[in-house]
Amino acid sequence: MRHLISITELSKADITKLITSAFRIKSAPNKYHTALSGTFIATLFFEPSTRSRLSFTAAAMRLGAQVFGFDDPATTSTKKGETLEDTIRIVNGYANAIVMRHPETGACKRAAAVSAIPVINAGDGSGEHPTQALLDLFTIAEQKTKAKKKLDVSTLQNLRIAFVGDLKYGRTVHSLSQGLAHFNPTCHFISPPSLKMPAEILQKLKERKVAYQECEKWKQIAKEIDILYLTRVQEERFADKKEYDRLKGRYVLNKKTAALFRNDCLFMHPLPRIAEINPEVDTDSRSIYFKQAHNGVWMRMAIFLTMLKQNS
Ligand code: NCD
Repeated sequence: MRHLISITELSKADITKLITSAFRIKSAPNKYHTALSGTFIATLFFEPSTRSRLSFTAAAMRLGAQVFGFDDPATTSTKKGETLEDTIRIVNGYANAIVMRHPETGACKRAAAVSAIPVINAGDGSGEHPTQALLDLFTIAEQKTKAKKKLDVSTLQNLRIAFVGDLKYGRTVHSLSQGLAHFNPTCHFISPPSLKMPAEILQKLKERKVAYQECEKWKQIAKEIDILYLTRVQEERFADKKEYDRLKGRYVLNKKTAALFRNDCLFMHPLPRIAEINPEVDTDSRSIYFKQAHNGVWMRMAIFLTMLKQNS
């Protein structure tokens, strides 16, 4: 793994190894605090972030690496017109790896093309968010494992999952659906007609023989699914604010709608939530979105170790 730009670069064995490694790290987090000492990680965030940037930073620091970067491109030479490629060439002289987020789809791929050091995609426009998909998969396996001592990755097999909300612009669902494709899932894509899953991703899922269906309502599938994966309507990708306002409250999980789902269905969300989950559902035992966000640290430690440490 030289760069991590798309989840499709990872095999089932790669994903399984990362999930197992995240579990091992979570079980003994203090064993790794010098694993990457002497390593410098640059976090280049051209777009807002809370979880991704802070959990990547926490992960690097827990491994003994040093971290520097920016979270506001307006304070950098990007503002003066420097190209992304030149910024990456410069950071190549300062760091051992780059974690980056950018508003343009494909920006991380462009960065990787000119980078001799690993580039990790922490979200590129409405493209992908592969590390989020990995932490999502880890969280599902962890929650579904019965005997808590050893992670049972086979629990990822044959899941029935509903992806709900902004499937057009939501990069997390683009990555997670393709990551899950290794594990024979049944996918329900629930969205308003204007926010459907992009045709090219559906085509890739079809080629990989993933069973899926698209629909607008969630009521009819509520009793059939193991995972409800909600997403935020991506306001920043809308040219028309009125259209965003019309769509943002379309699917809301509250006490009443939560009652539609099975007792063992897991409620997930990459966060931030805006209108999609009423805080009254936070104490429901099926709600695991905060655990999911916390798992970002362990998965990102596993990713850094795999990419940056020889013989890890
Ligand atoms: C997501 C993202 O940035 O794509 N957030 C995250 O990293 N957990 C989801 C979102 O912003 O809606």
